[in-house]
Amino acid sequence: MPESITITDNRTGNQLEIPIAHGGVAASEWQKLLPGIWFYDPGFTATAACESTITYLDGDAGILRYRGYPIEVLAERSTYLEVAYLLLHGELPTAAEFDAWRHEITYHTYIHENVRKRFLEGFHYDAHPMGMLVSAVAALSTFYLDAKDIFDAESRRRQIIRLIAKMPTLAAAAHRFSVGMPFVYPDNSLDFCANFLSMMWKVAEPRFDANPTLARALDILFILHADHEQNCSTTAMRVVGSSHADPYSCCAAACAALYGPRHGGANEAVIRMLTEIGSFENVPAFVESVKQGHGRLQGFGHRVYKSYDPRAKIIKRTAEEVFSITGKNPLLDIALKLEEIALQDEYFTSRRLYPNVDFYSGLIYQAMGFPLEMFPVLFAIPRTAGWLAHWQELLDQDAKISRPRQLYIGTEPRDYVPIGQR
Ligand code: ACO
Repeated sequence: MPESITITDNRTGNQLEIPIAHGGVAASEWQKLLPGIWFYDPGFTATAACESTITYLDGDAGILRYRGYPIEVLAERSTYLEVAYLLLHGELPTAAEFDAWRHEITYHTYIHENVRKRFLEGFHYDAHPMGMLVSAVAALSTFYLDAKDIFDAESRRRQIIRLIAKMPTLAAAAHRFSVGMPFVYPDNSLDFCANFLSMMWKVAEPRFDANPTLARALDILFILHADHEQNCSTTAMRVVGSSHADPYSCCAAACAALYGPRHGGANEAVIRMLTEIGSFENVPAFVESVKQGHGRLQGFGHRVYKSYDPRAKIIKRTAEEVFSITGKNPLLDIALKLEEIALQDEYFTSRRLYPNVDFYSGLIYQAMGFPLEMFPVLFAIPRTAGWLAHWQELLDQDAKISRPRQLYIGTEPRDYVPIGQR
C-alpha cells in the first residue's frame, strides 16, 4: 500500500495528500501541491540532496556499508585499493581486474615535475601541508586539459586513476617541503601504503621498507575513511561537480571542506585537546568544563551516528596493533579515561554523543610519526576514492545544478543616500 501524509492547508481548508517515497517527501511532489512553500533547513539536517547506491549508513544502529559490504568485513579482509575499486565500480574486482587496477594506479603516481618545482616549491617555507594539497589538487587541472571532457568515458576514467594515484605523492611532497626535506619519487615496486610511507620517511637508504604492521594499519585507516555518504566534503564535491567543473577543481573544493576542524581537522583537535588536558587526573575537571559550555569534547558526537561510530571501534583495535610496534602513545590513557567518564555521564548519553572516527585516529597517526598538520591530509588521500565515486554517480544521474533557495530576512527597499549625507 503506498504511504502518504495528508496535510490541511489552513489558508484554504484544502486537504492535500503527499506521497512518501523511501521514507521522505520528494520536493517535486511538494512543489506541485504547495507551490511557493519552502523547506527551511540550514545544515541540511532533514534534506536528502541526492539518491546514491554507494554507501549505506544507519546512524542509530551504528551501521556503515560500502556497496552493501559491512565496513567491519572490508577493514578485516580487504585493502584500500580494492575498496576504492568497489566504491567506483560498484563490485569487487576479479583477480585480473584488480591486477590491472593496481598496475594503473601504481604507474600514475608520478606528478609532473612542474607541479613540484614551480608550484609546490613556490609556497612559503612554513606552509600548512593541507593548504598546499588543496592548491596542488586544483593546479593539476591545468596540467590535464582533457579533464574538461567529463562526459568522455575514457577521459573520466583517466582522471579518476590519476587523482587516486597522485594524492599520496602530493601529500608526501607537501610534508617534505614543509619540513625542508627533499622530495622522494614514488617507488613502483611498493604497494599503495608502503609507497606513501616511503615518500614520507625515506632519507638516504636505497629503498624504504615500511614496517608491514604499520603499512597495514594505515591501509585499514584508509579503508575506514574512503567514503561516508553526504558528509561536508562529499557534498562540496557534488555541489561543485553539479556545475560540470573538472574533477581536479571539484576535488580541491572537497579538500577545502575537509580542512575545517569540524570535519577533517577534528583528529588534530583531539590531540591538541588531550595534550592540553595533560594528565589522567585532569580528565574529570575537563569534562565538567565542557558540560559548562567551555568548548567541545573533540572526537565526540556526529551528525548522523547517534550510537558508537562503527569505525571508532575498528580504529581502537588497530591502535593496539600500532602501539605494539611504536610503543604506546602517552595520550592514550587520557583518551580512555575521557571516553570512560563521558560514556557514563548524563550530559553525553542524553545527547547521544559517542566517540567518532577521529577520537582514536589521531593517536595512531601521531604514534606513527605524522605531524598534526598532516592529519587532514591523511584523511584526504583515501576520501578521494569516495569523492570520485560520488562525482561519477552525479554525472551518470545527469543531476541538476545545486542551487538551494534562501529565506531573505534583510531590509525592505530603501533610498540610496549620497556618501556626504550619511
Ligand atoms: N562535546 C560536547 N557537547 C557536544 C558535542 C561535543 N563534542 N557535540 C555536540 N554537543 C552538544 C551540543 O552542545 C548540543 O547540545 P545542546 O542541545 O544542549 O545545545 C548537542 O550536543 C547537539 O549538538 P549539535 O552541534 O547540534 O550537533 P551537530 O550534529 O550539528 O554537530 C558535530 C555534529 C559537528 C560533529 C559535533 O558533534 C561536534 O562539534 N563534535 C566535535 C568535533 C568532531 O569530533 N568532529 C568530527 C566529526 S566526524 C568527521 O567529520 C569525520
